[in-house]
Amino acid sequence: MHSRRALLYMPGDNWKMITKSITLGVDSICMDMEDGTAFNKKAEARATIARALQELDFGASEKLARINSVGSGWEKDDIEAVLPHQPDGIVIPKVESFEQVEWASRIIEDAELKYGWALNSIRILIGVETAKGILNLGKIAAHPRLDAVIFGGEDFAASIGATRTRDAIELLYARQAVIVACAANDLQAIDIVTIDYKDLEALKAEAEFGAGLGFSGKQVIHPNQVRVTQEAFTPSEEAVAHARRIVETFEASQKEGKGAYSLDGKMIDMPLLKNAQKVLSRAKAAGKV
Ligand code: COA
Ligand code: MG
Repeated sequence: MHSRRALLYMPGDNWKMITKSITLGVDSICMDMEDGTAFNKKAEARATIARALQELDFGASEKLARINSVGSGWEKDDIEAVLPHQPDGIVIPKVESFEQVEWASRIIEDAELKYGWALNSIRILIGVETAKGILNLGKIAAHPRLDAVIFGGEDFAASIGATRTRDAIELLYARQAVIVACAANDLQAIDIVTIDYKDLEALKAEAEFGAGLGFSGKQVIHPNQVRVTQEAFTPSEEAVAHARRIVETFEASQKEGKGAYSLDGKMIDMPLLKNAQKVLSRAKAAGKV
């Protein structure tokens, strides 16, 4: 699965931002036709994204297109405009049911067959950002074409009538619901946008907190946010070294017939080994080990 520590949006009609995005070394580039694009620019966004997919070299960055929500009336034109140009994935916002994902998956499968692309090669990422989306996530997250769930904090706060605060305590339940559903289905969980994009300290704190909760990445909206976010979702040298020591000592202790043992005065057993393995697999996904 593609590493998605930082997923950068830009309005799909903004050619300048799209061309800038491919120079940033960002994990995922999400060209938007939904809320980042004005009502009177939807057609232009479709055409511009189609052009970008045809003409630009995205390098190692993943190329994604976000369509309008299923039921908005725009979704069919959106997906049909970009799909023939083979994006790596489609992002569906405001998903509330399994059927909405299935609608897009069928259209994608038709395109894969028509153009001779590998089946299931074009992935779906969903935005879950309403009360209904969170309640139905258990069923939705089992869709086989899904790679990731993106949690939309601002939309979710509006959906439940919460007031956004700096530490985002009002979003904690939903963020954890997303992480749990993702962990249960082997999906990536992608955290909220820090909309105060000039405050990199706030971004760092929020990204590190999100990584600690179990998110694998975060949405970003400005080039300045990319590096800080990637760092927060890449395990530190220290964390990697500690995880390695746990893996090594665990094996030795198993051979000695001990399930639990002591390392630096702390108890280590199976769940700590699993956690250490997660750290190493994240470091590997980030190209660090
Ligand atoms: N992707 C790529 N490039 C971007 C970018 C983005 N999301 N946001 C800004 N840039 C570029 C600008 O074009 C500018 O490029 P230049 O130096 O070559 O001229 C540079 O980065 C600096 O931009 P800056 O002037 O600081 O920002 P701005 O005032 O032009 O734009 C925002 C600020 C918030 C309006 C803009 O970042 C943006 O539109 N972000 C995406 C919003 C979005 O897609 N929302 C929907 C999903 S949540
Ligand atoms: Mg949203």
